[in-house]
Amino acid sequence: MTDLAPLQDSFGRRISYLRLSVTDRCDLRCQYCMAEKMQFLPKAEVLSYEEMQFLCEAFMRRGVSKIRISGGEPLVRKDIMKLMQGLGQHIGSGGFEELTLTSNATQMPTHAAALADCGVKRVNISLDTLNRDAFLRLTRRDALHQTLAGIDAAQAAGLQVKINTVALKNYNEAEIPTLIDWAHRRGMDISIIETMPMGFIDEDRFDQYVPLLPLREKLIERFSLTASSHRTAGPATYFDRPASQHNDAGRRVGFITPLTHNFCANCNRVRVTCTGEIYTCLGQDGKMDLRAAIKSFDETLLQQQLDAALIAKPKGHDFDISETQQNPATARHMSVTGG
Ligand code: GTP
Ligand code: 5AD
Ligand code: SF4
Repeated sequence: MTDLAPLQDSFGRRISYLRLSVTDRCDLRCQYCMAEKMQFLPKAEVLSYEEMQFLCEAFMRRGVSKIRISGGEPLVRKDIMKLMQGLGQHIGSGGFEELTLTSNATQMPTHAAALADCGVKRVNISLDTLNRDAFLRLTRRDALHQTLAGIDAAQAAGLQVKINTVALKNYNEAEIPTLIDWAHRRGMDISIIETMPMGFIDEDRFDQYVPLLPLREKLIERFSLTASSHRTAGPATYFDRPASQHNDAGRRVGFITPLTHNFCANCNRVRVTCTGEIYTCLGQDGKMDLRAAIKSFDETLLQQQLDAALIAKPKGHDFDISETQQNPATARHMSVTGG
């Protein structure tokens, strides 16, 4: 198949970024992401890595230049490196530029070198606190040492690491300047993220929610941050820290503010779950099941379905966290699509 039109939605937004969740399982249970007791998908329903490879190649033929592998936690999937190798072979050809992943890093010591060999240049690692007790409370697992070892391993393998920190009242709000300093001392960028109301969790989201725009103002002042020209295909707005404040030149702080500053107008991405469902908006429940087309390796049908899904891509999310809004914006948890 050649000469397929680039993917585009009905608002004229070009889709160049695919986020593929390879498993809904995770070895942590972050408070804002999952409930303590989660019902995971039967493994038999999850696409094989050959099916995922077929799907990704179909997206590449429609102009997708960036694929981010997500979870749950992508590295808990046994055959993950086969997929990474298969996709890595396409980097640099046909407009495909970047293969990357978002991980909690607990399994990174086993995989970091192999990821670099597959052509992965940078990874995003979720870390919300450097305090062992707070990590246990937040993730419900005593695994801070594993995540830190994973960050060490990623850096030792030459991967560029960006830290993702969800800002949470009563958990890590006061620690955010420390986390920024720590990341920059280690030569890593860091993004601070607003919690998004996806799925019912065991706590009230309003009790966790930190609106980021006021916090951003404080951090701009504290670290003398200035607006950065740095862009990824992701939703963060970046600020630069003056070089005099740290050893490495140009370390950045990103802010991901879906609630206080909506960025949907520039949306360039879609998500596919590990069972082959496409979600064209993170904040909506609308989806289309691509599984039959994928499982029969029917690219003509798959491409038709991608076009149909994009025609129905919503304008944006309706995230709202307030004292009176008790219901999440989506029935599913963030872990179904990995963000
Ligand atoms: P970069 O390539 O480094 O820009 O990564 P990224 O920000 O695209 O991906 P990552 O997996 O690190 O996601 C960081 C945060 O951004 C997560 O909390 C995601 O849920 C959130 N995020 C990513 N895409 C979207 C989006 O389209 N809408 C919203 N509301 N949040 C998003
Ligand atoms: N709101 C915002 N970010 C979330 N993440 C998981 N759940 C949520 C949520 N409800 C983050 C993780 C990870 C990324 C994939 O999404 O911390 O960094
Ligand atoms: Fe696991 Fe990531 Fe969800 Fe935490 S945010 S429970 S690490 S999938």
